[in-house]
Parts: sequence; structure tokens; C-alpha cells
Amino acid sequence: MTRMTRRILVTGACGQIGSELTPVLRARYGNDHVIATDIRPPETACLADQGPFEQLNVCDRETMERIIASYEIDTVYHMAAILSATGEERPSLAWDVNICGLMNVLEIARERQLHRVFCPSSIAVFGPETPRACAPQTTILQPTTMYGITKVAGELLGEYYVQRYGLDVRGVRYPGIVSSETPPGGGTTDYAVDIFYQALRTGSYSCFVREDTVLPMMYMPDCIKATIDLMDADFDSLEGHCNFNIAGMSFSAKQLADEIAKHIPGFVCTYEPDFRQAIADSWPRTIDDEAARSQWGWTPQYDLQSMTEDMLEKLGTRLSAE
Ligand code: SER
Repeated sequence: MTRMTRRILVTGACGQIGSELTPVLRARYGNDHVIATDIRPPETACLADQGPFEQLNVCDRETMERIIASYEIDTVYHMAAILSATGEERPSLAWDVNICGLMNVLEIARERQLHRVFCPSSIAVFGPETPRACAPQTTILQPTTMYGITKVAGELLGEYYVQRYGLDVRGVRYPGIVSSETPPGGGTTDYAVDIFYQALRTGSYSCFVREDTVLPMMYMPDCIKATIDLMDADFDSLEGHCNFNIAGMSFSAKQLADEIAKHIPGFVCTYEPDFRQAIADSWPRTIDDEAARSQWGWTPQYDLQSMTEDMLEKLGTRLSAE
């Protein structure tokens, strides 16, 4: 099959990553070949204007099956998920969406023998027992959040479907993702995005983690590149499938604030940690992505300086047009 014949379903297409991944997939495979779905309708018209959009709750297997059958889908990017902070507020919702939603995708993919499925994982699979520096890909996975628990189970389920049924399932452990298009919702790393909005809008930000909190982060263009590159990789070159560490950059909340202040003189960041501090403290500061680099050629392009410059330019343009 050539690239142009793929028929793709994106779940969570209106979310932080989905809203930027979907247009890239549409540019690549053709607008009509990429079906955007989300539990809520798109806030901006462009996702639905560019190509097909269907409302889908990933827990509703019947509707998922109907959409996959009627559009003759062969590839799924399963981006719908409840993130870590919302997951701590609503653990049973996190389980339902992250586990039942994933099982629906995997079971339909198995039954219909789909070509390929992307199921993202997260740095939230790690926990306090994991080495804080350069966390290996294969290490102790004892997360203390419901989100992390569902992501560990998701990685294992994906690998199970690879081994047991020969289904082609792939996934990376996303770090915190920084982006200017759609704000994230309900994550612990959201401060690294909120800070840009507040810096541009008000010149100050009250950050919900301590200034010395260091977490793995990545700029959206690298996140999209990692997703596409892993999905393009030759299956035979992959030793694991659903648990690739991918590192972009790691910085403290203060380093980020200082970098922003270089562009917005007088920017003031204060620190008022809330319940999300404990989640941040349970995750490693840096991760080792050697497997992704050697098995499918992963390399990030953005560092803190280049990301900050680009974010302020893109978001500044967008906010001043509002
Ligand atoms: N960004 C996510 C969160 O903070 C981590 O994958 O929940």
C-alpha cells in the first residue's frame, strides 16, 4: 500500500497534540483520508472544515466501530486521554477513558486487522522508585498517579497485542509538551505552557510548582516529528513498541521563567505549589532515549532557547489577533 491510500482515524483530535497532529496528517495523506474525532466539537472551525469530523467518546465502542467501518480506517492515532492532574481529581474517569478507550481501539484493530495503531504513553509511567536522572527506558515502573497506572497498563496492553495477535501497535512516552495552538488540559506539566500565555497577557505568572522543579519537556514540532517518525519506522527495526523514551529538553520552572524574561523584560514569576507538586516530584528530571535514537533515528530539534523564542513569536501573534 502506498502512503496516499492510508485511511486514518485520530481520537482526541481537538486536544493539545491532536489539534496539531491532525493537520500534519491531512497534509501528508489528504484531507479526506484523515477522520478527526473528539468527545466535543472543535472550538475553531478549521479541524472540521479541512476534512471529516465525527463526535466520538472513546468509551463508546459501538460508535467507534461504526466510524472505523464506514470510513474504512486502517490506521489509528489514539490521542484521547485524561491527564495526570484531572486523573487525580477523577481517578475512575481516568481509568475508564484511558483503559476502556484503549481496549476499544485495540480490540477493534485486532478484529478488523488494522494496519497500524499509535497509542501514546507518558513520563507518568515513572514513579518515586525510578532513577531521577537519565531514567532508563526499562526500569522500575511504579507510578503513584492513576494516570501513570493507566499508562503502564496501556504500554503492556499494546505490547501484548503485538506479541499475541501480531497487531502493529506503537507508542512513545511523551514528556510535557509545550505548544502555542491549543492549551493542554489537566496535566501536571501545564505550567510550562500557561506561563507563556500569562507572560504575554499580564507580564506575570503564579506557577503551581516550585522554582527548582525540573521535568522532561518537548516543543510541539518535535512531538509531532517523534510521532510521525515512529509510525514511519520499519517494524523489523523495533525491539520494543509502546514504551519509547523520547527526550527533548529538561529545565526548571525558574530557568523557563528566566528565559522568558530575556524576551519580556520585567516578567515576574511567583511560585505557589499545589497538589501537582507531588506529582511532579514523583517523575524523573531527565530521561534516557537511546533506544529511540538507535532504533528509529529519533533526534529533537528544539532546546529551551529556540523553543522560547518560537513560542513567544507564535503565541504573541495569535494573542494579539484575538
Ligand atoms: N503532560 C502530562 C501530564 O502532565 C504528562 O504526560 O499529565
